[in-house]
Amino acid sequence: MNVSQLARSIAESPTIRLNEKARLLRENGQPVIHLGAGEPKSKIPIDAVLSASAQLTTADIRYTPTDGTPALKKAIIRYHEENYGVIVGPENVIVTGGAKQAIDVVLMTLLNAQDEVIILSPYWVSYPEMVKMKYANPVIVGSEDGRFHPRIQDVEAKLTSYTKAVIVNSPNNPSGAVYRSEFIQQIVELCEKRGIYLIMDDIYHKLIFDGNSFTSAYKYSKNDINTSKIIVVNGVSKAYAMTGFRIGWIVCAKCLLETMINVQAQTTSCPSMVSQSAAVGALNGVQSGVEALRVFLQNNKNVMVQELRAFEGIRIEDPGGTFYCFPDFSAYSKDSVGLSKTLLEKALVVTVPGKEFGMEGHLRLSYCGTVKEIKEGIARIKWALDPNSPNEIYIGDRRMVRDWK
Ligand SMILES: Cc1ncc(COP(=O)(O)O)c(C=O)c1O
Repeated sequence: MNVSQLARSIAESPTIRLNEKARLLRENGQPVIHLGAGEPKSKIPIDAVLSASAQLTTADIRYTPTDGTPALKKAIIRYHEENYGVIVGPENVIVTGGAKQAIDVVLMTLLNAQDEVIILSPYWVSYPEMVKMKYANPVIVGSEDGRFHPRIQDVEAKLTSYTKAVIVNSPNNPSGAVYRSEFIQQIVELCEKRGIYLIMDDIYHKLIFDGNSFTSAYKYSKNDINTSKIIVVNGVSKAYAMTGFRIGWIVCAKCLLETMINVQAQTTSCPSMVSQSAAVGALNGVQSGVEALRVFLQNNKNVMVQELRAFEGIRIEDPGGTFYCFPDFSAYSKDSVGLSKTLLEKALVVTVPGKEFGMEGHLRLSYCGTVKEIKEGIARIKWALDPNSPNEIYIGDRRMVRDWK
């Protein structure tokens, strides 16, 4: 097969691979518990359904402007003002095919070959691969104590003349950590001082628990939107449970946005018109579903943390947001890929290995499912790992025998 070196160097998406594996097992009648999922199961907002249906029934579905329909851009501008307290214009907004594509458009717009992008660990699996796809280099910055909060001096120590951007994702996938506002302040000040772009991936900003609060990077910026180095990425996938619609957006300085429009025009032309209508419905419609989802996730998070705290040897930090937690299983195995594989094979539980997020010994567990799934999933993991477990259990009507140490 004669594929490019670049394409060959790109790692498979572990989450997509695991989803596929779980789907195949389920199709074969296996009672799999999916603690790897990256999407809420709640229904999409009714206003999104109505808006998309109304668009569909016109039977007039066309290309839209590359940067999005005027109606959706207007809704995003309002959303931005409400959530960030910053007034932007249509010249600062581009609608994309999901937040993932938004980040790709940003990186395509910013990066030359050999440029460096600072990525804070643990990180969302796609960031390093997306940077590599631009022939640029991801530079990973971990936290001093091996936990989830990086220090500004560690970021600063990794800056070079090639550093073009820093990506910050808070609340964070996979850890659920909400970065402290002092850290956000420090990173904004550092980026502005050094002329580095700051890409804020705010996709989980509404899914925050227990009185933690989201800190907008603009709060600490000395610049206005058109001179700002801050690039905000957001979308409807997570808070509105609209992963299938593939709508995200970028808000940034006008001069950058013009190039982003060229990038998108020559790649996807524009996001789907029906999906954009659905997003208008979601953003302009009744917002109670977002809070209902947040409360549901907070409750599930509490259940999962409680189950994990009762699990000897596991270290767990209470997530401040998202729908993930990232417990440390290194007391059982330091090889997270092997551990995740064992748990799927022996206990039919899907987890995502920490190695994929830049942190060995951890597993990412998602609590988007039901309380029953969370409790049973953790019970099965315990059964598989604890040498004092009973020799056999039933999973569904399947008898599982513990034939390992
Ligand atoms: C941190 C982060 N950013 C971006 C995305 C992509 O979101 P979207 O589905 O809108 O492309 C995800 C999805 O898992 C994510 O976890």
